Amino acid sequence: MLATRRIENLALIGFMGTGKSSVGRLVADALHFTFLDTDHVIESRAGKTVREIFEEEGEPVFRELERGVVEELTRRKKTVIATGGGLPANEANMTSLKRHALVVCLWASPEKIYERVRSQSHRPLLNEPEPLEQIRRLLAEREPYYRQADVLVNTELRPLREVAGQVIHQFRLVQTVSR
Ligand code: S3P
Repeated sequence: MLATRRIENLALIGFMGTGKSSVGRLVADALHFTFLDTDHVIESRAGKTVREIFEEEGEPVFRELERGVVEELTRRKKTVIATGGGLPANEANMTSLKRHALVVCLWASPEKIYERVRSQSHRPLLNEPEPLEQIRRLLAEREPYYRQADVLVNTELRPLREVAGQVIHQFRLVQTVSR
């Protein structure tokens, strides 16, 4: 349970387009924590974009890189971690994150996600002829993993600042209880 865990960080999980990076930055600023985005760490190490890694090396290589970054996070403190949308689908990643972080899932419906990501082209998994169908399929597949989060926050009807406020509130609550 939470009391036996070492909650030193905050991890945001959830599907593409749920606002993990934007909310994560706001939360990190408010808590005076470091902000880290797993996709950015991977990109800066590989010297190429996520899209290029998918195209040139394939998804399994990207997932391995992701796995390596997650393991390194166990050494971090006072960090808000925004994760790639597919990262929680590996059980080992979720187990690892839960050891040191409060895991918060940002949620939105497939339609809302589509509305948010339709004008963007940097996500290889959505460069499909039927992106909405792909979102529905992947979201259904990943839902059981996302539901393993400590907290689920619906992002649909709220501006990002309000979502960030909810996340901060949940984090402070846990800090008080586990102190
Ligand atoms: C992915 C989500 C992306 C990125 C990669 C794969 C996924 O991150 O890691 O394109 O499998 O859902 P965001 O969720 O930050 O877009």
